Amino acid sequence: MTLLLGAAALAPSLFAQAPAASGPVVLTIKAGEAAAKVSPVLYGLMTEEINYSYDGGLYAELINNRTFKDRTNPLRYWKLVQDAGEGNSMSVVTDRPLNSVLTNSLKLVAHTASKEKPAGIANDGFWGIPVQPNTPYRASFYARAADGFTGPLTVSIVSTNASASVFASAEVSGLSANWKKFEVALTTGNVPASKDNQFIISTASPGTIFFNLISLFPPTYNDRPNGNRKDIMQLLADMHPSFLRFPGGNYLEGNTVATRFNWKETIHDISKRPGHQDDAWGYWSSDGMGLLEFLEWCEDIHMEPVLAVYAGYSMRSGHIATGPDLEPFVKDALDEIEYVTGDAGTTWGAQRAADGHPAPFKLEFVEVGNEDQFDRTAGNYNGRFAQFYDAIKAKYPKIQVIATTGVTGRTPDVVDNHLYVGAGEVAMQGHFHDYDNRPRTGSKVFEGEWATRGSRASTPNMADALGDAAFLMGLEHNSDLVIMESYAPLFVNVSDVRGPRGGGGSQQWEVDLIGYDALGSYGSPSYYVQKMFSVNHGDEILAATVANVPANAPARDAAPAGGARRGGGTQGTIFTGVTRDSKTKAIYVKVVNSAAQAQDVHIEIQGASAIAPTGQITVMSAASPEATNSIKEPKKVTSVTSEVTGLGKSFTRSFPPYSVTVLQLQGT
Ligand code: AHR
Repeated sequence: MTLLLGAAALAPSLFAQAPAASGPVVLTIKAGEAAAKVSPVLYGLMTEEINYSYDGGLYAELINNRTFKDRTNPLRYWKLVQDAGEGNSMSVVTDRPLNSVLTNSLKLVAHTASKEKPAGIANDGFWGIPVQPNTPYRASFYARAADGFTGPLTVSIVSTNASASVFASAEVSGLSANWKKFEVALTTGNVPASKDNQFIISTASPGTIFFNLISLFPPTYNDRPNGNRKDIMQLLADMHPSFLRFPGGNYLEGNTVATRFNWKETIHDISKRPGHQDDAWGYWSSDGMGLLEFLEWCEDIHMEPVLAVYAGYSMRSGHIATGPDLEPFVKDALDEIEYVTGDAGTTWGAQRAADGHPAPFKLEFVEVGNEDQFDRTAGNYNGRFAQFYDAIKAKYPKIQVIATTGVTGRTPDVVDNHLYVGAGEVAMQGHFHDYDNRPRTGSKVFEGEWATRGSRASTPNMADALGDAAFLMGLEHNSDLVIMESYAPLFVNVSDVRGPRGGGGSQQWEVDLIGYDALGSYGSPSYYVQKMFSVNHGDEILAATVANVPANAPARDAAPAGGARRGGGTQGTIFTGVTRDSKTKAIYVKVVNSAAQAQDVHIEIQGASAIAPTGQITVMSAASPEATNSIKEPKKVTSVTSEVTGLGKSFTRSFPPYSVTVLQLQGT
């Protein structure tokens, strides 16, 4: 049996007839034959506000419900400090709005307050306020007072345990009857890192004080003022992703038109952003992570934006009819593209410059909607897609327009396909050959959301990662067709997991790539698969044949009697792929061994004059398929890179049980 990697046509039923093997798998690499190009934008990220991805996640804001707009309770996450004094109270009022969008203010009546027993308000953050040693935090808030109260107010970060340790504290004064913004630095000393802390604003003298937009930021990645958490950004930067698909997902569409991601309400200073109910996932979004922040996130780790524009379909309120009704939404999308790409001479380019980013961003891909196959009205997406496509192409002919499902009437440059494989379905290994036989004409493919969800845990285990690695290898060796891929969801806050789906906790969707709480973060085994693949691929897919594949597929992978089925065949428990860097001549051999025992692969390289005896090997392996990472054990399963010897044009290597390996050989 042979397998030509790349654009080859291959009958899936061949795999069902794989003979029982004797001796090792033989992988023959034809170094002289580049079957196709590896897509330069293959590996990327997909993101949306789900599982507290931004608020309580990447977006570094530490105050939860900072503008008192939570739909279940506008005072949610806030409490009174030193409630003992008679008559002290806290309420949300609308008669002292900060401006036309931040209309809910918190009113503190400090009837009884003294130095010994201050009165105040406290916020526990997103399941804790992280404290790191010797770190400057930046607190800010708007305040006004009644009856001549001028302060001072004490701003502090205090532990919630019995010790009530004060980690940092500062005072502000000068309150008046008018709104004023106060900003202070809170710098911690040489204290141990902790997260069971709260942020407090208090007064030692009686008064009535109104607050709005109470904010606390730690240092951020690249020191952006309204920026992102450093640890999570570093995990992402280490993946070297080439693009970011944003802002969703269901979050883009919302349940109704009113709760879509309305980009025009996510720009300007954060005091001008109303926020909105993320009803797709059941919690309030501050929109602190707005359109410009997404773009700056791209800029910070050198990704290109894949901008998903709202396309007139929301999940529970149906669609906007094609034609004049849809036109304002098409105009919104064109304005959005202008905000991203326009120079300062354009209306929206000038707005972006006023918002703090004079330089336009590069934009190559625009996606029209999300999962529009769920718009059940026959043919409706065909019409909506055509209206957006025509308008975008007329003004921006170079932009590649992505459809979210197959359409007629127009040929999208790319079609976004989603694949979540869970327990009870065909395992992801069974999708290794999904694209081998697809025609190479017409639209390219974006595997824009996909994941193995067998573990049904917050983050994937090794079994999930092995499935992911096999599928990803299939995408890579078909990346002349599948030009982009992104795992989804990207993030989960694991502090208060009550998922799946709208359980009210910090998780709405189980099996997510990166987990974190207020203090720490970790990559899952599937994260390491993405990273290993993304940093080791070169630009050419080499032709290769595989022989002697063992017929040792576990029952879930076995082809049904009679041969082919969805997802093609199986390659047993060994999956291989080969790419090369045409400039450096480095050859990347990827091997997934999803079996419980080590397996030998004999590698023959034809068409290269020599292969250096020494190379590099990156391996991730685990003692069991259930092995996984967590906040407590963030690197229990991880990839390890080392030098490897004994290489050449012909060698045999043993691949450990439950492992993903990238061998980097140096050709000439
Ligand atoms: O990734 C979670 C959800 O799955 C996305 O919001 C949606 O596009 C898909 O159905």
